[in-house]
Formats: sequence, C-alpha cells, structure tokens
Amino acid sequence: MLDFHAHVLPGADHGSDGLQTSLRQLALAEQAGIDVLVATPHFYPQRDDFGHFLKKREAARAELADNYGGSIRLLLGAEVHVCVGLDHLEGLEELCIPGTRVMLCELPFRGLTGGMTETFERLLEDREIVPVLAHVDRYEPTTIENLFSMGINGQLNAEPLSHHFRRRRLLPWIDRGQIVALGSDIHGTAIGYSQYLKAVDFLGPRFDAIEERVRELLKDAL
Ligand SMILES: [Fe+2]
Repeated sequence: MLDFHAHVLPGADHGSDGLQTSLRQLALAEQAGIDVLVATPHFYPQRDDFGHFLKKREAARAELADNYGGSIRLLLGAEVHVCVGLDHLEGLEELCIPGTRVMLCELPFRGLTGGMTETFERLLEDREIVPVLAHVDRYEPTTIENLFSMGINGQLNAEPLSHHFRRRRLLPWIDRGQIVALGSDIHGTAIGYSQYLKAVDFLGPRFDAIEERVRELLKDAL
C-alpha cells in the first residue's frame, strides 16, 4: 500500500519532532502494510524561504535514511500551499516527487481566492506540473469540482473515509477516477494507521482502483 501524504521527516515540520518519532511513524506504517511512503513536509511559499526549506528537507531526509533500516521505500515530496504567483517560483520542480511532475498542493483553508484559478492554469500549462489536491474532503465541493473540471485530480485522507457519516459523499469522486491517491497525513504517532486501515477495509475494490491510479501516476518514481 502506498501512503501519498505523510509528515514523517524529523524536524522538517510539526509532523515529527525528531528522529525517534519518525522511526516510530515508519514502524507503524510498516506494520500496517505500507511499502511506499511519500514524505510531504509543509511548504508555505509566502512564509518560508525556498532555499532554506530545501536544505532543511534534505537534511531531514538524510538523517532518516541513515537511521531507518526497514522495508518502506521513501519518496521525497512536499505539501505545497498554493498561493497566487506560485507558478513563478524558480525551481518549483524540486517540490515534485522525483522523476515525476507530480506535486501535492494544499488549498488555503477558505478555498480558492482571486487569481488562484489562473495560477493553477499556469502551473498546468506553462510549468507542466501535475498538481494533486491534498485532502479534498476539507473544502467546499464546488471549488473542488471546478478544479477537477480543469483536469486536476485529488487525494483523500483516510480520516474522513473512516467515518460512516462523512464518507458517502466522497464515493462519487472515487468512482469517477478523480481521487488518485490516499494518504494518512500522519502527524506524530497518536493515530498512526488505524484510520488508514479502516478506510482500506471500507473501500474494498475501490481501494485497489486508487492504488492502481497512484502507482500509475508515480510509475517514473517507483
Ligand atoms: Fe498534510
């Protein structure tokens, strides 16, 4: 199973306060049956210095790689907070999963603000980025459906899928192929992969379809 969204790099963001937490997170992932995990520390272009972010992420990746002896294949990514002008960022490709043009994009909490649709258009057309919208259940459905209509796909967290009353409305997006990845969005170790496993159980063949899509999406990275 592939976890597309996880905050497991030691000290890279608030997802892990250090190496021991990260190793515990990976142990939980391994026990759950994860074999590929994309490490996606937050990047806020309006607040973070890009060069500093890349250096910090690389140091965290190296520390974890040097100390982790388990079986999970770690891929480097980022959860990029989309803002107007993101398409102008030089070196944006560094935020994509290596070997691909795939970038996990987080919308602001209030959804799309003025100029952001155009930013997405330029990311797609000028920069040839393949955005995947993080945890699409958190936003107003019409906002997400507008982005889907532009050819952008989405990622779902396991958490809403583990809730009986919240998951029903998400199924049409899965069945239309607009959900291309699942993620634990793990922060710390308290919840671990219990919700992820509940979601897998609930989804059944739908989970297999999402797995197929995500492995196709990342085939050049795997
Ligand atoms: Fe996240």
